Amino acid sequence: SIERRVDELLGQMTLEEKVGQLNLVSHGPPLRWEDISEGKTGALLNFNSAQDVARAQALARQSRLKIPPLFGLDVLHGFRTQFPLPLGEAAAFSPRVSRMASEWGAKEAAYIGVNWTFAPMADLSRDSRWGRIVEGFGEDPHLGSVLTAARVEGFRQGGLAASTKHFAGYGAPQGGRDYDTTYIPRAEMYDTYLPPFRAAVEAGSASFMAAFNALNGEPSTANSWLLTDVLRRQWGFDGFVTSDWVGIGELINHGIAADGAEAARKAILAGVDMDMMGLLYIKHLPDEVRAGRVPESVVDESVRRVLRTKFRMGLFDRPDIDPSRVDSVFPSPESRQAAREVARETFVLLQNRGDVLPVPASARSIAVIGPLADAPHDQMGPHAARGHKEDSVTILEGIRRRAKDAGMTVRHAPACDLFCRDTSGLQAALDVAKQSDFVVAVFGEPQELSGEAASRAYLELNGKQIEVLEELAKTGKPIALVLLGGRPQVLGRVAERIPAILMAWYPGTEAGPAVADVLFGDVSPSGKLPLTWPRATAQLPLYYNRLPTGRPTLDNNRFTLQYIDEGIAPLYPFGWGLSYTQFAYSDAAIAQKRLEQGEALEVTVSVTNTGKREGQEVVQLYTRDPVASRSRPLRELKAFEKIALKPGETKRVTLRVPVESLGFHLDDGTTLVEEGAIQVFVGGSSLAERIGDAEIAKTFRIPPMERR
Ligand code: IFM
Repeated sequence: SIERRVDELLGQMTLEEKVGQLNLVSHGPPLRWEDISEGKTGALLNFNSAQDVARAQALARQSRLKIPPLFGLDVLHGFRTQFPLPLGEAAAFSPRVSRMASEWGAKEAAYIGVNWTFAPMADLSRDSRWGRIVEGFGEDPHLGSVLTAARVEGFRQGGLAASTKHFAGYGAPQGGRDYDTTYIPRAEMYDTYLPPFRAAVEAGSASFMAAFNALNGEPSTANSWLLTDVLRRQWGFDGFVTSDWVGIGELINHGIAADGAEAARKAILAGVDMDMMGLLYIKHLPDEVRAGRVPESVVDESVRRVLRTKFRMGLFDRPDIDPSRVDSVFPSPESRQAAREVARETFVLLQNRGDVLPVPASARSIAVIGPLADAPHDQMGPHAARGHKEDSVTILEGIRRRAKDAGMTVRHAPACDLFCRDTSGLQAALDVAKQSDFVVAVFGEPQELSGEAASRAYLELNGKQIEVLEELAKTGKPIALVLLGGRPQVLGRVAERIPAILMAWYPGTEAGPAVADVLFGDVSPSGKLPLTWPRATAQLPLYYNRLPTGRPTLDNNRFTLQYIDEGIAPLYPFGWGLSYTQFAYSDAAIAQKRLEQGEALEVTVSVTNTGKREGQEVVQLYTRDPVASRSRPLRELKAFEKIALKPGETKRVTLRVPVESLGFHLDDGTTLVEEGAIQVFVGGSSLAERIGDAEIAKTFRIPPMERR
């Protein structure tokens, strides 16, 4: 058995060899290749070619115990073929789509020998100022749990072990500032921030990465409540935990360690098994053990977790990678097709006044305006692994190809530079627009404004985009805005002046064909917002599943929940997204109104496509516990399903919610489900209609250790 093999190997290891298995080093400095053959580096990251992987594998085979290394990489949204960023992927509201995208990224990375990925990012965020919101699934714990699990499974199917990150609370830094401190009450951790991580455990995530931030004053990298009490004792996780990049050394900056030795000691005692790029374990742990400050049994346990994972992954029994493999075999026709299919599922039609979209077949000429229409690098988005901009089909090119088939002419003018500071091209763009029958404007956030360390204080369309778009609208031509970006952007007057807005996130390598598929109506948009879209940056943090207040908003009553200088409602709610067709909901029924522990709330509803085109709808079920011992959210998404409907077609959809998920958590992780009414809402967004109530027959509790 695996445990026997682990024990046998562990029994042969010197203390230095054990610590070597806990040392994770990146390609490039400070990696010393000979450390691999000396058994001092058990895991490597940022290896990008089969040649380098094969060289490291050969060196590991020369080491005394011949333990194969892990090769880790951030494969967030594809490897060579770029798929949409995870926030966009979340808008597909489809575990099938998430599995497919992750599997492709994994297959391509595994082809050159990568076997482990620092993904998925399971950090929920309610604050779009935080640049890394683009790497996650948005603001909802249920959507996040379903998609995190799907990503873990997709990675595994494609050949990568997942390292789910960043454990935990990293998505809620104060002020939306990346790396800043986080305060989240424990009950709220269990209700909101932890469920996606737990879903990752259940889906078989091989490892977890500790977050950079401090949670309630305790840095995650030395947080034994998170790493030991919750992850191991309550959830039964038996894989390993790595730090983030030099995260252990940063315990000194956090002010809880005086030097590297203390930082290493605190991290391993709290439950961090592997040191990413800090070189502090390899340097200090042997002495810490010899001095009796760290029991050798603690090191043994960490090594056991790493070896167990390597055995489970089958690394000891795999042949080494063939060094002649090159990643330029991708993108393949199949990976391109997959990237195109995934991308068009992620686009959210935010508004479409006067049914401006799709582009009418009667249009003879199209003006494509905006710098992001022809931006092969930026359309891939941040964290693009081995993505090459030369592989990208731009939005301009996609529109050109599709328009040619329809006998339409296309002219392009950028109007301004990438950041839209220099608008000297505006007049030329207006001329092109005036001479065309239809205008497609492509604007938004260049990729540099999104991702890690890209916190923004102002989410307004950057540069002079608002002015440019207003001038374009004044031409009076039918106009649609294709918006790119890694977060909602504040649209201001643009939402009034531009009738149709399609949020396309960062669509990836096949942006052009995917955007054209949707603009020209070959495919109806079907994405839904995985987060609440604010009207103003100052509304943040903003989220739909908020608690009620004693003074709910009332028009004409100042002393209720509101701003005196801005609306309180978002511009577009969570779960929102239009189609080129319409859907009608009818005959909603709750199967069984009185529910006991172990049963499930089951809701059935008919959905009809009442329009003239095929389309997909995301059927969403929300609940509310209106009277409980603690304030409960106004609405919580509990189930959803994406269905495809032909014109005139009706499908009956059944959504199930286990009664256990209708409760909430206490500070110690106990689930408490209280008797009484549960309101049920079903529809196509978080504005869903209330269809009736169910009732929980009797209060019950589930201790944290029993919810495994
Ligand atoms: O996986 C990442 C993490 O999200 C941020 N710091 C670096 C890691 C490895 O690249």
